[in-house]
Amino acid sequence: MVNQVSEINLDEKSLNLMGIKQNKKPIPNRFSDLEIFWEYLKRAIYKLIKIFLNFKPLKQSQEKSYQNKAKSYRQSLAPLQSQDQKVLEDLKEIGTYSINIQDLGLDSTQALLEKSKILVNFLQQESNHNGLFLDLEPSILADYPEIFLWGMEPRLLDIMEHHIGHPIYYQGYSIRRDIVSKDANANCIRAWHQDSEDKTVVKIIIYLNDVGARGGHYEYIPQDLSKQVVEKLNYNLGYVDDPTMKSIVPQQDWMGCMGKLGTVIISDTSSVFHRAKPPEQEDRFSISFCYTTNKPKFYWNFKKIFPKNLAEIKSQLTDQQQKALINKNRLFGLKFWLLGKYS
Ligand SMILES: [Fe+2]
Repeated sequence: MVNQVSEINLDEKSLNLMGIKQNKKPIPNRFSDLEIFWEYLKRAIYKLIKIFLNFKPLKQSQEKSYQNKAKSYRQSLAPLQSQDQKVLEDLKEIGTYSINIQDLGLDSTQALLEKSKILVNFLQQESNHNGLFLDLEPSILADYPEIFLWGMEPRLLDIMEHHIGHPIYYQGYSIRRDIVSKDANANCIRAWHQDSEDKTVVKIIIYLNDVGARGGHYEYIPQDLSKQVVEKLNYNLGYVDDPTMKSIVPQQDWMGCMGKLGTVIISDTSSVFHRAKPPEQEDRFSISFCYTTNKPKFYWNFKKIFPKNLAEIKSQLTDQQQKALINKNRLFGLKFWLLGKYS
């Protein structure tokens, strides 16, 4: 497969202007030991509480309360236009929808594509990484409000509100290079899982290069089959390896999202098993955006990123966009979650 990422040769002066000191201060991998420890601690706490909440009567009453509130919230929303209704239907029925970014027809797409070429170039030039992936530091992304604003397009927020059925929280975004690795153990982080930041989590992934069958594409198990996996494994949290997945869902039913640069994948990652397939031939470059209710159980793995000029931008945001930036649950959701309250 030919990598279609545009090559932009940035000289040292340009990089310095953009906050990057080439060969002097490499882009650090943002997963420090402390962050990894904190992430494991959060997940351990979450798992304990989830086991507790799996107590059937408690789970049923919590689910009922969540669904009732979702039903009345959806009724208060304006209907979506027909193209976006199709996204909603696929999210509900299959769990994932895929489209070319130009066909989405969003005003801020061109700006996102132009800036993402520069950001991909940063990732291509950086050799200091963990051999698996490389994320751009929030301090770099903060200079690129175009990425932030694309994720806040009103039509996208409308889709999220309809699907999630509660006021939403825009958890942010990351730009990543997934690196070809032959280390089977290292690739366990790319194993099957469901996301657990909240009861409903939607991710949008945009490919920033052509991604073929050996390029680390997004893979998922359709909604109905994912439900079977949850039941058969009594799945709460964590990773499922390929042999186990194969024993429940035949490999021909695994859905692979290959696509050209600009392919957009919208997926309910809390209800479908999914993974970024380990790239075997070429690195994958992508942007991911994350959306949950505005009282999420946890923050997404990636740091919240605000553009440096947020104050200036904020005055131009709609009410809906401003509300999507407010997380009303500052204790990782534990307080509200234990009480079964979502609104
Ligand atoms: Fe995930």
